[in-house]
Amino acid sequence: MSETTIESILQETRLFYPPSEFAQEAEINSLKAYEEHYAEAKADPQAFWAKLAQKELHWFKKWDQVLDWQPPFAKWFVGGKLNISYNCLDRHLTTPRRNKAAIIWEGEPGDSRTLTYAQLHREVCQFANSMKQLGVKKGDRVGIYMPMIPEAAIAMLACARIGAPHSVVFGGFSAEALKDRLEDAQAKLVITADGGFRKDKAVPLKAQVDLALEHGAPTVENVIVVQRTKEPITMVEGRDHWWHDLQKTSSPHCPAEIMDSEDTLFILYTSGSTGKPKGVVHTTGGYNLYTHMTSKWVFDLKETDVYWCTADVGWITGHSYIVYGPLSNGATSLMYEGAPRASNPGCFWDVIEKYGVNIFYTAPTAIRAFIKMGEDIPNARDLSSLRLLGTVGEPINPEAWMWYHRVIGAERCPIVDTWWQTETGGIMVTALPGAIPTKPGSATRPFPGIIVDVVDKQGNPVPDNTGGYLVVKYPWPSMLRTVYGNPERFRKTYWEEIPHIDGQPVYFAGDSVRRDEDGYFWIMGRVDDVMNVAGHRLGSMELESALKSHPGVAESGVIGIPDEIKGEEIVAFVILKNDFSPSDDLVKELKQHVMEEIGAIARPGEIYFTDVLPKTRSGKIVRRFLRQIAAGQEIVGDRSTVEDPTVLDKLEAEIREKH
Ligand code: WTA
Repeated sequence: MSETTIESILQETRLFYPPSEFAQEAEINSLKAYEEHYAEAKADPQAFWAKLAQKELHWFKKWDQVLDWQPPFAKWFVGGKLNISYNCLDRHLTTPRRNKAAIIWEGEPGDSRTLTYAQLHREVCQFANSMKQLGVKKGDRVGIYMPMIPEAAIAMLACARIGAPHSVVFGGFSAEALKDRLEDAQAKLVITADGGFRKDKAVPLKAQVDLALEHGAPTVENVIVVQRTKEPITMVEGRDHWWHDLQKTSSPHCPAEIMDSEDTLFILYTSGSTGKPKGVVHTTGGYNLYTHMTSKWVFDLKETDVYWCTADVGWITGHSYIVYGPLSNGATSLMYEGAPRASNPGCFWDVIEKYGVNIFYTAPTAIRAFIKMGEDIPNARDLSSLRLLGTVGEPINPEAWMWYHRVIGAERCPIVDTWWQTETGGIMVTALPGAIPTKPGSATRPFPGIIVDVVDKQGNPVPDNTGGYLVVKYPWPSMLRTVYGNPERFRKTYWEEIPHIDGQPVYFAGDSVRRDEDGYFWIMGRVDDVMNVAGHRLGSMELESALKSHPGVAESGVIGIPDEIKGEEIVAFVILKNDFSPSDDLVKELKQHVMEEIGAIARPGEIYFTDVLPKTRSGKIVRRFLRQIAAGQEIVGDRSTVEDPTVLDKLEAEIREKH
């Protein structure tokens, strides 16, 4: 944790009430209604969640106990039996939703597919049987490394159906990063595609899987490949199987496995401030309930809505708010393969117009990129179907919020700024669009049942409008259960950074925050060494070890500096080994090396060569000083934490010279 005091400089006083037409139709339709739900949940969280679990989900067997809390380990709906794929599919089949679109998919080249609930159910059952053909059983881990095509969602739901925890790895990660994740999860099967289309190119995926498996991940026995781009790939005899071949011989009948509420649903890797990415473990019952409820209330889903979340299924947002949350509600979830690109900067608005999208959920980094491209692009499309906008992934600056409100929402659509994390499984702090007035840049208030607070490093509450650390004081249904294979890391990272409060451990999110006089939360950013680059979480240590694996690098310090579009830009300070000397070519080579180790999202924007790094007496790099130096700011803070403070002046002079 950084030791500097947290100061908030943002002053924003604009307030936007939910439009009355919106509120009239909303399920939670007034501030009073929100406050009543909130108070009810706070008074007895277990009763609150139990009531909703009973009403909103299908259980094969009801639970015996709502919560078993042995801090920091929580179990929800103990003894309850259910299957999330049943809740997302089967239960809709006996209702008029049977022939409603579950997934509307648009490919980047302009091809498209719609799967009704009945069709999606059939595909999922069939694919579940395809996995069974290859010997995949309940409890086996399955890696998914896919483009944004319906088969990604089908694969996830099929894993859930047979009780095989999935571990989705973002398709932009490199072979090396994929290998690490498959190894940690000891995956038995990998599901991939020949490639996917992104920014007018066919991006190969199967070739990366081949590379990953050449280098490691020996537990992987089989690979299933979807044909998407039709680019040539190699198929390894006995190991690799075409999706379409397996499906031919698989029956479309596959009853959902009876899962325990606490059986693992998935593992998803995310970056932390230390060491390798952590396998965040989510289980079945609590996750199903929480993503269901947040989808329902935050997005105010209506039976006829077309809902579009632009995230990739490789991230938690894709898991919770493209697949599980919306489908559990029987909503129509739109999936888009592509990204705004030079040849079609307006492709998002085309998709909204084409399908009459009503709810649109995206990231601040995308909004800032749209602002830069100019409002003529969205203005040339009919966006009048939109009724609700959402944002996630990083703090949204008030200017971007106002642009989103004015240009995309035509001052008619409420905006829900949703704060949450891979670890929280679902949205934690957010407006409910028909109930909570919004302020540009604030995620507003906690979801009912979520007890959050702002405290200092010792766990003391801080006064309103003073920055502090965001903590959660009571377990919630979709909280991560552990770090896969490493319960000690789970305990240390999340539950021991802040001392107990009133004798109870609290969950430390890693973010700084300010609460204003109206009880609104203003997230300020990470306080650990985790960067947020275009909404992607990357750990400093992870990048430093990627750099260190290059033969020329002796040591490095990696930090993020503010960037207008991406939120943060990666800057690396590198000390070379003696027989290497600085050059532009070496800068290029190191950037390329990081891309190979982690992926294009981790490519440093700047690399500075140096022969010193600021360190504490115990040898830890003091990254906050690197941040100030790289951003060209004045060095503030206690220099005496650095063993040799003259290093700071030296570095500052070096960097100034380069600019
Ligand atoms: C940041 C993404 C401000 C935050 C769902 C958090 C946000 C990290 C917001 C989690 C928001 C996410 N306002 N900051 N609305 N949403 N963050 O695990 O720093 O990829 O800790 O989960 O993103 O990133 P993750």
